[in-house]
Order: sequence, then structure tokens, then C-alpha cells
Amino acid sequence: MKISRIKSIEVLDSRARPTLCTSVYLDDGSIGQAMVPSGASTGQLEAYELRDGDKQRYGGLGVQGAVKNSEETLKILREVSPEDQLEIDNKLIEFDATENKSKLGANAILSVSLACARAASKSMNTSLYEYLNIMYKGMTNKDSAMSIPVPMLNIMNGGCHANNSVDIQEFMIIPSKKFNFKDGLMKSVEVYNHLKNLLKEKGLSVSVGDEGGFAPSLKKSEEVLDLIIESIERAGLTYLDDISIALDCAASELFTENSYRLIGENKNFSSEQMIYYLESLINKYEIKSVEDPFDETDWDAWKTFTNNNDFQIVGDDIFVTKEKLLKKGIKNKVANSILIKLNQVGTLSETLQTICLAKKNGYKTIISHRSGETEDSFIADLAVAVDAGQIKTGAPARSDRTAKYNRLLLIEDELYP
Ligand code: PGA
Ligand code: ZN
Repeated sequence: MKISRIKSIEVLDSRARPTLCTSVYLDDGSIGQAMVPSGASTGQLEAYELRDGDKQRYGGLGVQGAVKNSEETLKILREVSPEDQLEIDNKLIEFDATENKSKLGANAILSVSLACARAASKSMNTSLYEYLNIMYKGMTNKDSAMSIPVPMLNIMNGGCHANNSVDIQEFMIIPSKKFNFKDGLMKSVEVYNHLKNLLKEKGLSVSVGDEGGFAPSLKKSEEVLDLIIESIERAGLTYLDDISIALDCAASELFTENSYRLIGENKNFSSEQMIYYLESLINKYEIKSVEDPFDETDWDAWKTFTNNNDFQIVGDDIFVTKEKLLKKGIKNKVANSILIKLNQVGTLSETLQTICLAKKNGYKTIISHRSGETEDSFIADLAVAVDAGQIKTGAPARSDRTAKYNRLLLIEDELYP
């Protein structure tokens, strides 16, 4: 079996920006398609997202160059078996030949990488999650089980995902592990709806941010946390027993001139003060998980914070899903969990390698969407296939987010009817 055609077009993401949709055609008639997401609070060391820069089209954000580049990869992939994902991804990396995939664009590369996997799964007549599980088992040489991840639902948006003064980017709810996925999602939806009513009662806006969470014009993080806990109680649920809370501080966005500028709190914090501020907030509210509490360059603060605490500490911008950076993290005892975003590193194989490394070293894994998403639900299958344990994919609202939750509902129903 061979790849016979690669065809890409520009489609739109959830922020009205163009992105790629790539179709890979196999000579047995199978077709795999993939769309790539795009971040806003991006890490500096992420793989390069190629944009046209032509202001006449989409304000310079067009991806026609990446479309052309993805189609050109056919010449190096024609002879590769579509089932050999590692070989496909290695060829793509070789063809690009830059450190951060800036020649072809990580968006171009990833769309081909993912569309190849989908095409091969179709050709083998297996569902995507099963196909990815086989691939993952091949890499780990272990019998890796599949599981439905626990969702982290971002229900209040701040930072650069919202037009308000809330400093922390994401306030997420996590249903207890005692619920199956379907019930956990239902309870989370109840909290989301109670939160909406509560905001309305208080005369606050119920319009939403980039990831579908509400984005009222509040300032202090404590106000947001109090509202979420009240919504959990109004839904007839018990805070911590039924639903807990996670934060993504996206602190690189707050870091300027060696200090953290918290507009909502009207404070400027040194790293030490930021450690103290976050520890106080987290302990007061018994927060279960915190992502990117410090800037991606502030490794000393990360180290101290990891050493001091035993809740889940998640590295996103600091690791950007790259094996090399995670290795550095493991060596320096920085964080105990990693956020996994395919487009931060740019190929499926590299993503799986990073997941393997994390698991081998006892780091928890959370498969994640980006703030700019499409209806592509690849990450839902990926989370199941690698037994990731957790998935973060926004509010239970807006199709770009619910596409992933709905896909997980279908997979759960298939695996555990
Ligand atoms: P991004 O945000 O997709 O805008 O980078 C998500 C996150 O920081 O986790
Ligand atoms: Zn993040």
C-alpha cells in the first residue's frame, strides 16, 4: 500500500483564522484527513507555525504557503508505507531540516503526519484510537491499556483568552474519578449551567472566551473561584468530593522585566512573591492541579515550587511537548506532569515519544487542545490510545470543544457499552 496523493486547503479555526486541512489518499482508496489547531499563549520554543504574512489576505495569517509545503511532501512520502508512522515523521523532519520546523511549517508537517495516521487506520479498518494504541504499544514494547481520560473543563476564561482583567488564564473543573466519563461530563455541564445562571443573577456577562468558558469582567481570581464553588454547590454537588478545580496560570504571559504583573490583583510580584501568592491561593481553595505557575525561563521558581508541593504541577510552555525539555525537567525535578500538544512539537511520533518519556519517569500526562481549534477530534482518540489519564479541551460548549467530548462519549460507549 502506498500514499498516492496529498491535498491541502485553508479552512477556518474557532478564532476566525485560517488553518490547514490536509487529506492523504492511499492507493487502496482509503482517505485520512486532519486539521491543525493554533495557540495564543504559545511557548517560545514551540515548533514554528508558518503564516503567509500577506496582509491582503486574512491580515497576514493565511496558510497558503503551508498548504503548498504539505502537498510537496508527497515526493518524499510516496515510497514510505503509510503504516510506518515513525518513518513518515522522520522523513518529514529530514525534509524540513530545521530545528523548529520553520521551513515547511509545523502546521504543514503536523497536518500530513496526522492525516497519514488516519488514512492508515481507515485502510486497516480499525478505529483511530485502536490504531494509535497499536502504534504506542509498538513504541513502548509494552501492553499499554486504553482508558477514557478524566476531563478538565475550562469554565472561566481570563488572561489572553478573554477580554477581562482576570490574570489566570484558565479555571477548570475536574469531575471525580468515581464517575465514568459520561456522568462526569454531565455533572460538569450542570456546574457550567449553574455558573451561567449565577453570573446572570449578579448582572455579569455570560459571553464566552476563546475556549468556551465564561469571561465576565471580574478582576480577582478569588472572586472567580468563589463563583465556581457556589455553582458546584448549587448543582447539588460537593466541592472536592464530586468536582475539584484546576488552574492554568499561563504565567509566561504575566512575566515582564523579571516580575509577574498581575493586573487583576494590582500587584507586581517577584518570583518568590509569586510562589507565596500561588501557594496561599492553592492551599486556601484546595486546588488540585496548577499549570504553568511561572514563566518558561524561571526554572528556579519552578524547582522550588515543585519541591514544596505535592499537588499536580503541569508544564506546558516550559516543556512544549519536547523530549529534550522534558528530560531537562526530569533532571531538575521541575513539575510532575506534562501538557501534551501535538502542534508544539509538530509530529505524531515525537508526541508519542514525549508521552513515553513522561510515563517512564512518573510524570502524569494531559492531552490538550489549543485555544484556536477546529472540529477535528484527533486528541480524543490520542488520549484514549496512550492511557493519558487526563484531557483538557475547554468548556462543554462550542462545537470546537464539544467535538472532543462527544468523540469521547462515543468511544466510551464503544469500549464499555
Ligand atoms: P493556547 O492556550 O492554546 O492559547 O496556548 C492553551 C494553554 O495555555 O494551555
Ligand atoms: Zn497552558
